Amino acid sequence: MQILDGKICAQAIKDELKLAVVQLIAEGKKVPHLAAILVGNNGASETYVAAKVKACEEAGFISTLIRLEETVSEEKFLTAITTLNNDSNVHGILVQLPLPKHISEEKIINAIHPEKDVDGFHPVNVGKMVQGVPTFIPATPYGIMLLLDHYKINTKGLHAVVIGRSNIVGRPISILLSENKNPGNCTVTLCHSQTKNMADLCRDADIIIAALGKPAFVKADMVKQGAIVVDVGITRVVDASKKSGYKLLGDVDFENVSSLCSWITPVPGGVGPMTIAALLKNTFQSCKQKNEI
Ligand code: GUN
Repeated sequence: MQILDGKICAQAIKDELKLAVVQLIAEGKKVPHLAAILVGNNGASETYVAAKVKACEEAGFISTLIRLEETVSEEKFLTAITTLNNDSNVHGILVQLPLPKHISEEKIINAIHPEKDVDGFHPVNVGKMVQGVPTFIPATPYGIMLLLDHYKINTKGLHAVVIGRSNIVGRPISILLSENKNPGNCTVTLCHSQTKNMADLCRDADIIIAALGKPAFVKADMVKQGAIVVDVGITRVVDASKKSGYKLLGDVDFENVSSLCSWITPVPGGVGPMTIAALLKNTFQSCKQKNEI
């Protein structure tokens, strides 16, 4: 069993970006600027946004954190996005999800200019991704692809089983893994809560992408010897022994599954850091495109 180490891979990407930013500055060009919008004070969202802002700073990017109250009106929210759309110094706009119930996620995402949609959630960017046209790929699936690429995993012809059909992870990763490139060229099965023979499908998988948000859902008897297992789960559970007061649990029963795998991602230290590295790559790309105009 070998570990797909997201921490090491993400650090390599961040180091590369940091050097590229130094180069931009030397050429008198604009530095990447990410604007993150955080609504309310959801503990998990606070942590994720703080990690994104910190990573930006480490890579030499500019970051702006915009906090909106839990009770913010949709109108005020849309005005904040328009302001960022019109600011030529902002290259990426990220709205941390989920949003309060009274706000339409669809309306908010659609309001972000596709050229600044570094999360890759805007329908224009989703459409391009489905067609295989270069665009911003959502950070988590993009991070997984970068991790497989970093470890030179040959995925050609493999059967990939994706568990979870979210717009953020399951659906996009199923599309990316089916593309005619490496990583890619997989035969993809997308499983979800209504799938009948999930364990059988998983047992046939050469690659399992677990992205359903249920701790330790993937058990040893669902995994074939030699499988590649990517764990996207990051469920927070209270743990008084931790400084933060909680621990993160993956969707895979790592203790019993890992010995069966050829490769596996740990939680934490697997997909999580890669998500942030991928977001930075998208933001850098957006800045580069603006610098070239
Ligand atoms: N909430 C959970 N995952 C994500 C993500 O990748 N981007 C944003 N903006 N919000 C999220």
